[in-house]
Amino acid sequence: MPETVTTPSDSASARPASTSGATIQLENLTKSYPGSPSPAVEDVSMDIKAGETVILVGPSGCGKSTTLKMINRLIEPTSGRIRIGDEDVTDMDPVKLRRKIGYAIQSSGLFPHMTVAENIALVPKMTGWSKSGVKDRVEEMLDLVGLDPREFHGRYPRQLSGGQQQRVGVARALAADPPVLLMDEPFGAVDPITRDHLQDELIRLQHELHKTIVFVTHDFDEAIKLGDRIAVLRERSHIAQFDTPEAILTNPTDDFVSGFVGAGAALKRLNLTRVRDVGIADFPTVTVEDPLQSIFNKLRDGQHNELLMLDRRNRPYKWLRRGDLMRAKGSLARAGQLVHDTVTRDATLHDALEAVLTDSGGRVAVTGRRGEFIGVVDMQTLMNSVQELLEADRLAAMEHEHDLEELRSHRTEQELEGGDGGL
Ligand SMILES: Nc1ncnc2c1ncn2[C@@H]1O[C@H](COP(=O)(O)OP(=O)(O)O)[C@@H](O)[C@H]1O
Ligand SMILES: [Mg+2]
Repeated sequence: MPETVTTPSDSASARPASTSGATIQLENLTKSYPGSPSPAVEDVSMDIKAGETVILVGPSGCGKSTTLKMINRLIEPTSGRIRIGDEDVTDMDPVKLRRKIGYAIQSSGLFPHMTVAENIALVPKMTGWSKSGVKDRVEEMLDLVGLDPREFHGRYPRQLSGGQQQRVGVARALAADPPVLLMDEPFGAVDPITRDHLQDELIRLQHELHKTIVFVTHDFDEAIKLGDRIAVLRERSHIAQFDTPEAILTNPTDDFVSGFVGAGAALKRLNLTRVRDVGIADFPTVTVEDPLQSIFNKLRDGQHNELLMLDRRNRPYKWLRRGDLMRAKGSLARAGQLVHDTVTRDATLHDALEAVLTDSGGRVAVTGRRGEFIGVVDMQTLMNSVQELLEADRLAAMEHEHDLEELRSHRTEQELEGGDGGL
């Protein structure tokens, strides 16, 4: 993807096309707070690709926030350089710099005395957008984060739920169309279900926008869900491992990383894969409106041991087994097992497995946008998929090792020949 770093005011139209991500390079960044015996961040170097989502994950106090805030210079580095795109921004005016960098934090950081619209308009206004441009942009941003502009425009932050505040926080961070978005535990303060939704939304947004995102969290599951690459940090932001979620799960470099990954790496792999990526199978169905006799016939003719009964709107309702009918005595009202849980195509295999395990039938029904039945995923499919995924990960990890070996031996040769060795 070509890198475009035009600022909105450069373009003549009020509504510029979205700016995609820029590279970020951190070179030997160090921060020593006055009076502290050791630096909070020490000698961090990192190359982040344009359009990539990189997660900084590590224990509390390890220097994640300090590292992040040096990128937009809310904290001035003690030494080291920062490059965004082709530009060295280490000495750039921090106010100008921050117009190119969206920033979203925990508890949204919205100004309580400003309306939602005023909060979102803040940076575009400072950047000198036209009045109508700003107005359109506010609507567009609210729409983008899934809030109805008419409803939320004039509200104050205190009149919003935690999740809605967080959405406005993201809208504000994106309003001036920056190539880079920094997020510091943005979903840390909301309940787990809202957090899950916000994470899904961020994935959807990023598919559309291709910003470069640096996202801080202490939650490894969040890191695997959101990251293209994850930097696992130890004290003073020393990078323990910087790689794809798959590589870190299957090939942690040391005990610190495996401790952080935690037990059950194979189970965590389930979080990386969606139901849409595995085989969704057909399943015989009947509806509550079908005549009783035809349902009986369908089960008796020997082809199926089990049927799924759908309600009037084609949503999964109950599982009916042949044996249930024998006991039904002319009415299906009390026959069969109610469907407890369903998943969508976007659910993770982890969600699907949970549903399969809680439902007695060893399978879960997959539903569409309006809850309508699409198909089923069963235990066998899940097990096979996970085994295939883990096998593929292992192969990839081995190839990676092999490449590294080659690189190392190549370098040694060069060194022996008196070359500068590169790297
Ligand atoms: N303004 C500050 N002054 C002095 N020390 C600080 C300041 N901010 C953070 N620290 C210290 O720097 C270290 C890293 O902090 P921080 O970057 O906030 O970690 P994290 O975000 O990973 O929890 C901690 O030991 C913290 O106490
Ligand atoms: Mg922090």
